Amino acid sequence: MNLNIESTYKLNNGLEIPILGFGTWDLRGKTALNATIWALESGYRLIDTASFYNNEVEVGEAIIANGISREDIFITTKVWETEMGYQNTINAFERSLNRLNVDYIDLYLIHWPRAKRLETWHAMETLYEEGRVKAIGVSNFKISHLDQILNNSEIIPTVNQIEFSPFLFQKELLEHCRDHNIKIEAYAPLTRTNKFNNPVIGEMSQKYEKSPAQILIRWGLQHHLVEIPRSSSKRHIKENADIFDFEIDINDMEKLDGLDEGFRAVEDPIFD
Ligand SMILES: NC(=O)c1ccc[n+]([C@@H]2O[C@H](COP(=O)([O-])OP(=O)(O)OC[C@H]3O[C@@H](n4cnc5c(N)ncnc54)[C@H](OP(=O)(O)O)[C@@H]3O)[C@@H](O)[C@H]2O)c1
Repeated sequence: MNLNIESTYKLNNGLEIPILGFGTWDLRGKTALNATIWALESGYRLIDTASFYNNEVEVGEAIIANGISREDIFITTKVWETEMGYQNTINAFERSLNRLNVDYIDLYLIHWPRAKRLETWHAMETLYEEGRVKAIGVSNFKISHLDQILNNSEIIPTVNQIEFSPFLFQKELLEHCRDHNIKIEAYAPLTRTNKFNNPVIGEMSQKYEKSPAQILIRWGLQHHLVEIPRSSSKRHIKENADIFDFEIDINDMEKLDGLDEGFRAVEDPIFD
């Protein structure tokens, strides 16, 4: 697998998405600003934020401070559950644009599959048709939620952003998404550090001379996922991007796949 930090996947609408992104949950104020600047300096080109994260302003400032052209950066943001519904979503989108200080979003996601998800999706379709977002997608959607969208809409989501790691290897959902050409973005790919001390992760870490974080990110990339690790530390941000000079062999990939135990660092999105 010949991957590098500039590698991309093609989404089902033809848009290229970087395979590695920078997550920003829980980073606020100066921490969010500095961390996003470090991520851009380290070569990340996808920044994952959300209306709910309360850091869109700082993400926008970091992009300006860094001086990289807008078209070379891939911004993902999300409509929050209290902003759902057709007109509410259009309004929430305008607010996100203003906070980010940009005139389009690369990828706009429904953050959680709450009650008004269909109307919300139809608003996302409008935003896409108007060219205000380059791609639309969902997050935390299970198979039934995806099927509801697939059966009642014109546009197939490009992405489903879900928690995914060897400890939560959601094979059925992965296959359903692959069948519909929906790309999975893996959130909490580092298990929020909860599984760094797992013995198999330790064994791989020693064998490949890479940190637990690097093993987990590389595992996701070798499953063709978009990985969006988060860090507030300059050292970790660089470390998490230093994953292109090794490859986990097939036997070790299978060993890592076998770690699935349904572990979630984030609450399970069980909604009707
Ligand atoms: N759509 C959704 O509902 C949803 C839900 C959750 C997350 N997300 C997205 O996915 C992103 C990633 O998930 P996450 O933030 O939940 O968790 P994560 O990336 O799995 O873990 C983040 C934690 O790992 C630590 N860390 C990072 N790199 C490290 C390294 N190399 N060595 C040691 N520790 C390291 C960080 O601490 P330091 O700051 O000290 O490095 C932080 O505590 C989020 O930021 C967000 O953008 C989306």
